[in-house]
Amino acid sequence: MRVPRLHFHRFSVIILLTTSLPLSIGAFAQQASQANAPYKDATQPVDKRVADLLGRMTLEEKATMLSGSGWMESAPIERLGIPAIKMADGPLGVRSWAGSSTITNSAGNPVKVLTTSFPSGVAMAATWDTELVQREGQAIAQEVKALGRDMILGPTVNINRVPLWGRNFEGYGEDPYLTSRMGVAYIKGVQGEGVIPSVKHFDANNEEFERHRIDAYVDERTLHEIYLPAFKAAIQEAHVWTVMSAYNKLNGVHCAESAPLLTDILRKEFGFKGFVVSDWGSTYSTAPTVNAGMDLEMPGGPPMKAWMATGQMQAAGNGAGWLTADKVLAEMKAGHISEATLNDNVSRILRVTFESGIFDHPHTGGGEVDTPAQQAVARQGATEGIVLLKNSGSLLPLDATKIHSIAVIGPNAAVARTGGGGSSLVRPKYAIAPLDGIKERAGAGVDVKYSLGIGMEKEDPTQDTPEARAELLKEAVGAAAKADVAVVVVGRYSKLEGESFDVKTMDLPAGQDELIEAVEQANPHTIVVLNTGDPVTMTKWIDKTPALLDMWYGGQEGGHALASILFGDANPSGKLPVSLPKRFEDSPAYANYPGQNLKVNYAEGIYVGYRYFDTKQVEPQFPFGFGLSYTTFEYKNLQVGPLELLPSHTPSSLFAVTLKVKNAGSRAGAEVVQLYVHDGHSKIDRPVHELKGFQRVELKPGETKSVMFALDHADLSYWSPEKKDWVADPGTFEVQVGASSRDIRLRAPLEFKP
Ligand code: BGC
Repeated sequence: MRVPRLHFHRFSVIILLTTSLPLSIGAFAQQASQANAPYKDATQPVDKRVADLLGRMTLEEKATMLSGSGWMESAPIERLGIPAIKMADGPLGVRSWAGSSTITNSAGNPVKVLTTSFPSGVAMAATWDTELVQREGQAIAQEVKALGRDMILGPTVNINRVPLWGRNFEGYGEDPYLTSRMGVAYIKGVQGEGVIPSVKHFDANNEEFERHRIDAYVDERTLHEIYLPAFKAAIQEAHVWTVMSAYNKLNGVHCAESAPLLTDILRKEFGFKGFVVSDWGSTYSTAPTVNAGMDLEMPGGPPMKAWMATGQMQAAGNGAGWLTADKVLAEMKAGHISEATLNDNVSRILRVTFESGIFDHPHTGGGEVDTPAQQAVARQGATEGIVLLKNSGSLLPLDATKIHSIAVIGPNAAVARTGGGGSSLVRPKYAIAPLDGIKERAGAGVDVKYSLGIGMEKEDPTQDTPEARAELLKEAVGAAAKADVAVVVVGRYSKLEGESFDVKTMDLPAGQDELIEAVEQANPHTIVVLNTGDPVTMTKWIDKTPALLDMWYGGQEGGHALASILFGDANPSGKLPVSLPKRFEDSPAYANYPGQNLKVNYAEGIYVGYRYFDTKQVEPQFPFGFGLSYTTFEYKNLQVGPLELLPSHTPSSLFAVTLKVKNAGSRAGAEVVQLYVHDGHSKIDRPVHELKGFQRVELKPGETKSVMFALDHADLSYWSPEKKDWVADPGTFEVQVGASSRDIRLRAPLEFKP
């Protein structure tokens, strides 16, 4: 599905005209001085520069480039002016590059890098706002440059297969189409600034359990339909410069040495031209890794040696130090790696160095970080990403002129839980907790009282005794009973949800369910706020809960965003990028997680997320795509027809889909219109429907807008392992348009004849 873009061609022409003029000025003089070194001449085609530079390199220099020189730096070749590529994590902002997250996330972090903490990936996906995600990528890239770095290790586009994956918060949810759109937008934002992104982790990195040893068994169709599309889109639509290989094995082979993955799929099938960087400590061999097309091993140099020497890394299953120059050269001497292969791998690194511009214009740093504009992007993301899940009796929005007191309760109320744990956790200059945001917005006229209610599991043992718990609960219930409204902010935090471990249970951490139940009993006007990345079990209290919001991990502006939604300054428009199951047992991968004997069979195949819940008719707690608003929207006039219905479309488009959406309420708001395709006639097993388009439409009260989509062959197709291609079976499809995967408002047939 491609959203028609108007004026695209005219825009391109303007750019061409304005950029080509300055190039001609002084070109002769420049060319003359660089005639004997075409690689230094930025006006030369990249291929020519790469070939020229490669031809000047010794074998040793080339071999040196295959492994890093430090924790986050590739190896420079100073003799030829080849710069080190200076990296940083990623993807939710710029994180200190001084070492592993164990060091940089600790209180004694040697290098303080304070940057904008953007909302988690799942929160950004909940915005369904690709334009905003592109601006986020751009803002992050600006911070990368301001700090004198070149590369950001993101976006994470792994699919949420299991509700317990420790890194679900980093990614864009369960759907390959939505994830692709978000990934493409992020990459375009980053690359537009001349900063190198790294789309990760390739591939089938969907659990942290034994992440270095686990072997994911995924069939070809499932790979193509679920776990590869976001990488394919990153390559074919955003022309991403680098891909990061995953820690795990896929179908028996470690991803970093899988030729089927890195050469056949990535390069031959998708046409990837950039380089592959390993995940940190994910290499296990020399020749097989180089020959598979894994170009740059990270980390490298002394930091890698010190890291591996601790022994802890080997115990966890990490591998590193396989692509050092001595090992690569020895394998070449033994005839296990050819010079042509080495040249290919080095060329790919050089190509990105030229294409990104860092060869000609190294990022020297010195710019501003966490500017008001960057903060505004973080705030908009946090606000648009909040999903209103329940609002009985229109408890929300709160009217600050009518309420006099609010009890703000819970272990995530007074602390800003900005993100999950691990390499994506950014240290911001400031972070707004829900309590801060509510107090600031409520103003002096409203009495805001805070009580903890229950300590966060594993945070402070003094809060975890039976006496302390009883006392905290009593206080919270007392505060709730006296207030007009109670806001209970529950969830997890970086030590219970993060990289290198999976979440132990879908249940909220200890005591939080009981806290919600007790507060709801004390005050009928209770609003529950979820502040976590993974789904949580809600069955104990959801039926009695009048209002429920999911704010995910909202980054440094989470508290402001929450307050603006609570008080109606912003109208909720977030929609779930993931189905929220009632119980973990209901989720499709339940029977095949975490695997046995270090093998995990993706036996549910293509039935991930709503593809499973909707096809197998298992009722989730809240469906994919769901989210309420303070206004209501009407859908009408669905038409499926020839492309003439559209003002513009891409050459591959086949059909036009148009409809009208009206804001039927009295508040301005945004609706995320979702388009699903149903194939009821195919000879093969297909999900009841699949998302193939969406648009976030801003509407004033009473306003109606036309919404248009173009569908192409790929939108009707499934992957055929026999034909090794996408196949659309001729016949009648159904186009479904709605407000969630389970709230289809309009349907129309689509006749497909080949
Ligand atoms: C993570 C990557 C990260 C890298 C560098 C790894 O442990 O899986 O996502 O970019 O570390 O910090």
